Amino acid sequence: MSSESNSTTPGASRPGLDIVALLKQHAGENYELHSQHVNPANVRTLKTIGFDRCYVRAEGPYLWDVKGEKYLDLLSGYGVFGLGRNHPEVRRVLKEFLDANYSSLVKMEAPLLSGLLAAELKKRMPNQLDYVFFNNSGAEGVETALKYARCATGKPAILHCKKSFHGLTYGALSVNGDESFREGFEPFLPGARAIPFNDLAALEAELKKGDVAALVIEPIQGKGVNIPSPGYLRDAIALCRKHGVLFIDDEVQSGMGRTGKFLAIEHEGPGMDPDIVVLAKTLSGGFVPVGATLCKKWIHEKVFSSMQRSVVHSSTFSQGSFAMAAGLAALDVLDRENLIANAARMGDLLGNGLRAMIPRFEFMKEVRNRGLMLGIEFGSPKSLTLKMAWTTCHTLDKSLFPQAAIIPLMDKHHIITQVAGHAIDVVKLLPPLVITEADAQWFLTAFEDVMVQMHKFPGPAWDVLTGIGKMALTQRAR
Ligand SMILES: Cc1ncc(COP(=O)(O)O)c(C=O)c1O
Repeated sequence: MSSESNSTTPGASRPGLDIVALLKQHAGENYELHSQHVNPANVRTLKTIGFDRCYVRAEGPYLWDVKGEKYLDLLSGYGVFGLGRNHPEVRRVLKEFLDANYSSLVKMEAPLLSGLLAAELKKRMPNQLDYVFFNNSGAEGVETALKYARCATGKPAILHCKKSFHGLTYGALSVNGDESFREGFEPFLPGARAIPFNDLAALEAELKKGDVAALVIEPIQGKGVNIPSPGYLRDAIALCRKHGVLFIDDEVQSGMGRTGKFLAIEHEGPGMDPDIVVLAKTLSGGFVPVGATLCKKWIHEKVFSSMQRSVVHSSTFSQGSFAMAAGLAALDVLDRENLIANAARMGDLLGNGLRAMIPRFEFMKEVRNRGLMLGIEFGSPKSLTLKMAWTTCHTLDKSLFPQAAIIPLMDKHHIITQVAGHAIDVVKLLPPLVITEADAQWFLTAFEDVMVQMHKFPGPAWDVLTGIGKMALTQRAR
């Protein structure tokens, strides 16, 4: 762990940490360390599906493991690496910033960089949003929005959609429509009520009860990549307005250009008027946790209603200068490299390429995408033998089937993807916005090969999966 090149500060008993040497010394020990110190259950899962790789280098949409193998990352850290990994421009800005020895988190001050980043974010909104609260994650942004909504309206209830995902802190989890995340953590925030996504009548019925502060909604649901019908979001805003209820647009995953527009809600056309918008993920460029909650003036004035209440909602790390510099650099890269247009173009390429495969492969039911937020849904096939594979998988475990695609995508083709949620048959892609046509083709060729193998039953593609399914059954039985 020592290094001759490292300087020793006066009074220090030994040379400072050599991080590069430390990484080399322990390369490949990841899963052993995690089994012992971090999360053994997660290690078992990763090993079971063959995702237990040790990555040592990252650049753009690519990762390299300890053996030097190259991977295409179509998950981008759940969407954090919209700009790709280690973007050279964001890195340059952050290095220059560190070298400037600039101040941060003085707290009893108004920091310059958060003012500049807030102004930049406001410029990119489809409507007039006046003030920005900075936080450190998507869930914190949602917490901010929920607190604002209750405080501004004086009402207790928050509506959310079934199958939604807004984060895993208590407020966010209370409006999380995915039961698998909630189990074991009850009771939740009183007044959190679920409605079906894409159902205006259900929304209006709840709004009419008169106790609702806000509807919190993802313009495209991340779990499952569910895209609402045209007009739904616009009409939902109008209904909320009619009943004096705030519309919270959770763009943590779909925002920052991922869908081919800065905000996914803009796909409804001009004039969209959300009361609160939540951003995170790509806003950091992947380097520092940072999120932002933007809101209208009247809402802000209700919360921060006096000098005594001027920091009534706050967080120690909010507005850290390094995070704000990362945010400014990320927006600059997004603009200068035309990444939003690239997201739209690459999304079309991938979406259309995948849709063209549907007639050839019985398991493929639907491909949904807005830009680079893509979901490939599987469904029950027609032919009897394949139906047997489908039924066997679903009997063993409801979340098993899509693993048949993501495991060989990783194992054979070195492409990182994920299953879009629990007990749904959807493979999800959240590629970095910087992917090229060659990357898209890498995936399309690989996916086609995986589909060919999956449509051979019985066959080796299914042996791995039934093994995993049986293991899951045994574990549950214990
Ligand atoms: C729409 C949405 N909201 C909120 C969150 C929570 O963000 P975080 O994991 O940064 O807390 C996520 C995370 O995936 C998300 O997709």
